[in-house]
Amino acid sequence: MRYLIGVDIGTSGTKTVLFDEQGNTVASATVEYPMYQPQNGWAEQDADDWWRASVSTLKQVVEESGVAPSDIKGIGLSGQMHGLVMLDEENKVLRRSIIWCDQRTAKQCEEINRIVGEDKVIEITANPVLTGFTAPKILWVRENEPEIYEKCRHMLLPKDYVRFKMTGEFVTDVSDASGMSLLNVAKRDWSDEMLDALGIKKEMMARVMESSHVSGYTTKELEELTGIPCGTPVAAGAGDNAAAAVGTGVVENSKAFTTIGTSGVVFAHTDKPVIDKKGRVHTFCCAVDGCWHVMGVTQGAGLSLKWLRDNFCYEEKAQAQELDIDVYQLMDSKAAQIPIGSQKLLFLPYLMGERTPHLDPDCRGVFFGISAVHTKANFIRSVMEGVSYSLRDCVEIIREMGIQTDNMYACGGGAVSPLWRQMLADLFGCNVKTVSSKEGPALGAAILAGVCSGVYKNVVEGCKIAVKDNKTQTPIEENSCQYEPYYQLYRKLYPALKDNFKALAEM
Ligand code: XUL
Repeated sequence: MRYLIGVDIGTSGTKTVLFDEQGNTVASATVEYPMYQPQNGWAEQDADDWWRASVSTLKQVVEESGVAPSDIKGIGLSGQMHGLVMLDEENKVLRRSIIWCDQRTAKQCEEINRIVGEDKVIEITANPVLTGFTAPKILWVRENEPEIYEKCRHMLLPKDYVRFKMTGEFVTDVSDASGMSLLNVAKRDWSDEMLDALGIKKEMMARVMESSHVSGYTTKELEELTGIPCGTPVAAGAGDNAAAAVGTGVVENSKAFTTIGTSGVVFAHTDKPVIDKKGRVHTFCCAVDGCWHVMGVTQGAGLSLKWLRDNFCYEEKAQAQELDIDVYQLMDSKAAQIPIGSQKLLFLPYLMGERTPHLDPDCRGVFFGISAVHTKANFIRSVMEGVSYSLRDCVEIIREMGIQTDNMYACGGGAVSPLWRQMLADLFGCNVKTVSSKEGPALGAAILAGVCSGVYKNVVEGCKIAVKDNKTQTPIEENSCQYEPYYQLYRKLYPALKDNFKALAEM
């Protein structure tokens, strides 16, 4: 039997999974790390935390699996997108990475639009420049920390820093590079026009490759640290969502998935680079050679429930520990006891601003309609419902663009909850399926490793072998009808509050 490893460098932690070539999990390990928020709306992580977590999880899966290291045929990388890692001439990290959900760059986005032209940016990069994307982060560092920018020689995305440490190669892949505002997304290569206009030197950028191609081979140092034989091929890999698409088999037209991780995403495959003129959903290259995807993003999906858990659910945490179950399982059963609409309590999940559909870094979370009848269970349910309303917003826009989403899968931590999956089915009005492996991005990365090492012929074949359908949640018409008025009211709240969010941000 041949084995493949997927490493997913996420926001809450790095998860490494060793699979057999049929896509079955043989060993899995996760190491968590902190996210730093030096100011409201800022978010940073330490790139060496990602590296340490990758090494330690790789070592754990090799040891725990008992698999002969020579049977490990390849490694694939998946990771949180958009984060900026800057290295000096000795390849040392220059500052903490400013990550995807950081919202400090509104001014730099305006600058980019002024210099390049708003329409031109969309024409070249297929997307408007957004505060979370990488190019405005680069400009922010250049303007606010010139002494650091001065020393910078390489700029990498999170998983590409880990690749550099594993292989010594400066490489990125087309899907992850799509979120930098520097790639010509239709041509799948850096845009000289964007780089020149913004004064960013091309030699600082990594080589761009298709996701399933070999980006390099592991070093002797990695072998000493983890037991993975020196010379193991590492696939270019993909941004977390493009990797999750592979791990759920969303690699052909008409297929789509929703993920509830830290962020939430509705992702639909397309063989053409279709663009939403208003830029409300992203158009990025996907991990299948020569294909793309459109994707709506909810900034604070799992993040919202985690925030509630960490700040208000101490009793549930203690109880879950006693019962030896996951605290989310307990929160889920509390939410299930509350009726649809959470007894008139609505939640806007804008804790870190919002992308789809508002593209507004200044909006913030809201509980609307709090009453003396409400208990913590109402708050838990309304957070789950609010996130689902936001994901419905994403589906609406993708459908408006004429892209099929009815062959819908669910993945990510949130998809473990049958209640949450049922909410999605009821709100989207279509079946929501899961696949048997829970490892979306890690499995996707491993399948890409399988392609780059010749275990599979191509990504579609790899998915046919390694991804299996599991449960289906069918929409319940009565539930859909009950949700609808709440969803319509939810849609009215943002426009009503828009100016006040701005005023709050300016205080
Ligand atoms: C996608 C995005 C997030 C991050 C973190 O554009 O910002 O999905 O990749 O998961």
